Amino acid sequence: MNSLNLSFTNSISSVIDRPSLFKLTQPAKSLVRVCNDGRKISACLNLDVKVPDSVNFEKLGLEFDEGKDIMEREKRVLVGTYDRAKIAIKSGKGCKLYDYEGREYLDMTAGIAVNALGHCDPDWVNAVVEQANTLTHISNIYYSKEQVELAERLVESSFADKVFFSNSGTEANEAAIKFARKFQRFTHPNVKEPATDFIAFTNSFHGRTMGALALTSKEQYRAPHEPVMPGVTFVEYGNIEAAKEAIQRGKVAAVFVEPIQGEGGIYSATLEFLQALRTACDDTGALLVFDEVQCGLGRSGYLWAHEAYGVFPDIMTVAKPLAGGLPIGAALLTNRVASTIEFGNHGSTFAGEPLVCKPALVVLEKISKPQFLDDVSKKGQYLKQLLVQKMGANKHVKEVRGVGLIVGIELDVPAKPLVEACAESGLLILIAGNGNVVRLVPPLIISEHELEHAAQIMSDKLSVLD
Ligand SMILES: Cc1ncc(COP(=O)(O)O)c(C=O)c1O
Repeated sequence: MNSLNLSFTNSISSVIDRPSLFKLTQPAKSLVRVCNDGRKISACLNLDVKVPDSVNFEKLGLEFDEGKDIMEREKRVLVGTYDRAKIAIKSGKGCKLYDYEGREYLDMTAGIAVNALGHCDPDWVNAVVEQANTLTHISNIYYSKEQVELAERLVESSFADKVFFSNSGTEANEAAIKFARKFQRFTHPNVKEPATDFIAFTNSFHGRTMGALALTSKEQYRAPHEPVMPGVTFVEYGNIEAAKEAIQRGKVAAVFVEPIQGEGGIYSATLEFLQALRTACDDTGALLVFDEVQCGLGRSGYLWAHEAYGVFPDIMTVAKPLAGGLPIGAALLTNRVASTIEFGNHGSTFAGEPLVCKPALVVLEKISKPQFLDDVSKKGQYLKQLLVQKMGANKHVKEVRGVGLIVGIELDVPAKPLVEACAESGLLILIAGNGNVVRLVPPLIISEHELEHAAQIMSDKLSVLD
């Protein structure tokens, strides 16, 4: 706040006596005011003379809105890829976030399904601090105990035999794409052109790098960057016959599917659909990849969403909540796939570094406890009940759906006005689908009381949709 530097072109009384002369939020580097007596006063933003710390802007009656200042500065220096909510967040604790004006928000977003343990979980914080004081990064040239331990825990708790770490969900999917192609090449040494194509589904979201983007169904994400990776066929999510027809031997390397679609609007696969995909992949030699970047790691009330179906993939990709907010992703593989991958087939500088893996162990430990997962299921059920009770009768609410704490409210109108009205009332919620679905993915530690509060605010604000 006090980094505004002041300089004077004339010997006049200190600006501290005349605070209202300057507009502090103006983007110009130097502001000049000509006084009645002809003296020029300039406030220059880039000189070395610092306002003394003793200057208290509030006492001086100067309005300094730090949140707004951040938003204006953001526009100047950050590429405009995000349509951000007009909130600058300063801190968080549990399921609450606080902006620069001290306003409190109940967080039903968890950083888009990331902060499963909420904000600043003490055990997670300790793990980060201790590890930062011990060893942060060593590249993947050397062995790391923390990385091995995290991989061991992931293997113990899943269908998988081997793990490849990445830094994000899209990178985990990128790894899965490469591994699927390599698997096909390796297992068909005498075939001139082994299977390289992929099947993905309507409403899918797999990421924004060129391979994962090619598997993402929304045209508007892909179109500006085409050509993306070729050879992807989109099939209607849930359509068994169409999927069976598309999964062709010698052509399709892998089928990518989210057991519960997040970005696409909170749609859950049926048991028959996942079973049919498994069978079609087995029959044709294609690999089945479950993208559990959003729905995995406890969000569904199961550690892995596919456990509810009893259908298992060859590869699973995970990311968002795994390190409690630090960047991580992972592709989990069966031995059958992993054994086809050789040195140099893939890699990453940062992936699986100790600083990220140590806190991820804390997250995995807490989330995988049966009691924790039971609670997620119960709270998810309760949330859906509350939403149906409080909002179900509204003419704009078409459906409340989801599993565990990944819940969608489908509307017959855009959700944005409701999202904005809720934010003004201290509740943060997300949009999914084609802009008409409210997506609720709170920290998994959220209390029933907080869920009631969230449902009440949403219900109170529904009239903005009329
Ligand atoms: C199902 C799914 N896959 C992949 C991704 C991409 O993850 P990231 O944004 O970490 O690259 C997302 C992100 O929302 C996702 O929901």
